[in-house]
Amino acid sequence: MTEHRYINIFDTTLRDGEQAPGATLNRAEKLEIARQLAKLGVDIIEAGFPIASPDDFAAVKAIALEVKGPRVAGLARAMQKDIQAAWDAVKVAEKPRIHTFISTSAVHMKYQIKKTPEEVLAGTRAMVSLARELTSTHAGADVEFSAMDASRSEPEFLARVLGVAVECGATTINVPDTVGYALPHEFGEFIRELYRLCPSLHDVTVSVHCHNDLGLATANSLAAVRAGATQVECAVNGIGERAGNASLEEVVMAIRTRGESFACETGVQTTEIARTSRLVSSLTGYQIQRNKAIVGRNAFAHESGIHQAGVLSEATTFEIMKPADVGLTDNDIVLGKHSGRHALRVKLAELGYQLSDADLDDAFKRFKEVADKKKQVTVLDLEALVSEEIRERLDHFSLKSFVNQSGSSIIPTSQVEVEARGELKKGRSFSNGSVESVFAAIDNAVGMSGSLADYQVRAISAGKDSLAEVRVTVIVNERSFNGQAVSFDVMEASAKAYVRAVNNAAAAGEV
Ligand code: KIV
Ligand code: ZN
Repeated sequence: MTEHRYINIFDTTLRDGEQAPGATLNRAEKLEIARQLAKLGVDIIEAGFPIASPDDFAAVKAIALEVKGPRVAGLARAMQKDIQAAWDAVKVAEKPRIHTFISTSAVHMKYQIKKTPEEVLAGTRAMVSLARELTSTHAGADVEFSAMDASRSEPEFLARVLGVAVECGATTINVPDTVGYALPHEFGEFIRELYRLCPSLHDVTVSVHCHNDLGLATANSLAAVRAGATQVECAVNGIGERAGNASLEEVVMAIRTRGESFACETGVQTTEIARTSRLVSSLTGYQIQRNKAIVGRNAFAHESGIHQAGVLSEATTFEIMKPADVGLTDNDIVLGKHSGRHALRVKLAELGYQLSDADLDDAFKRFKEVADKKKQVTVLDLEALVSEEIRERLDHFSLKSFVNQSGSSIIPTSQVEVEARGELKKGRSFSNGSVESVFAAIDNAVGMSGSLADYQVRAISAGKDSLAEVRVTVIVNERSFNGQAVSFDVMEASAKAYVRAVNNAAAAGEV
């Protein structure tokens, strides 16, 4: 039997993923996702870009301190202040990484960073050496170097830059397809060519980081793996800049399902994929398209009678993976109206949530409200409730109450009470529609003016007694912020989702 190469999964959901428009995450949310990524078994968590803001720095440091298992990376431009900030944030981890990058394509060097090729070479030498020097004080630490826009760089020049990075101490060399321009056959050949031009790449981990502008991020990543790369950078649900990053679940399940073609394996616990995907979706407010591979609602649904009959007699007729392989078990009932606080704590711990006593009290109160109305509470309901508890921990605003009057012959009017760190603010408004009037009343209470770019409602589970989930995208000062919330009442879920987006705007200094 051929020995399988180990492919490191470098998760960038919390860095590149969070760069997706509107996908702001607060520190508590980032920590929760990082804990789940550790459970998922990724090898490296890119926790953020520490120089970007004090919040970013604090979140990376908190993850480095608390999350055990995966290596924790902080991103840094090839600049002294960035590298120092990245190190200060990650050095408390068991296995910290400084990930530094500089552009190497002609177009980026000329117009984006305004440096000559010689300056890029010198910058790589100086900044990788600095990162190496800082990390040399920590036995578990290492350095990754990325050549931004590598796939559009001139191969001989790129190979020289990568050679310098290896010589100065980088032990992972990343080759990004930053603008998603590559084609799979070309990208695989490009990686082989780099190994030929820069033999020292054989002594380090070669990584790829592919964007999805042409829908090829997964295909390009897999082509690179076949060409020798042993690290793939990817994000849960494929979120990220523009069309996003290679999707973690697609890369991992392709390697697992088509093992014979790759002779590779990853350390990902695939049964945690569905849960991780739901957590990232609800905390970022990014809905997963129904037909998304692996984690979309329809990924394992068989509509045609012929397919259904086939799957019933032999699953492999139309299924190349089992739903259970990615953690999609039946939406099983876990607790009921008579379940106590202890049973809730045990179930939440099984799902990976560690709540403080105060948070558990809040979660229990909400659980009782749901159980009274719904009788049977499922994993999906619990996840939805706990996600709200997590994010509310650091929120500035919370919805205290709302009243909405509407009907076919009256103008919809709304009144809301929003608490802002202990201070009660009241707002009222009337508008053409009920939802619009609630949102305008919230604007009135918090003293801002947001415009609604997107509004979606869906049921969390089957049945008329399902919790409703609302997602909004709100534009504040030309920046977009997502919000998501659940409730039995669609208007309440709408109001909470809007307040959630307002909180994200406030965290970004826009309210
Ligand atoms: O897309 C890209 O090139 C990046 C780098 C910072 C790795 O995100
Ligand atoms: Zn990127």
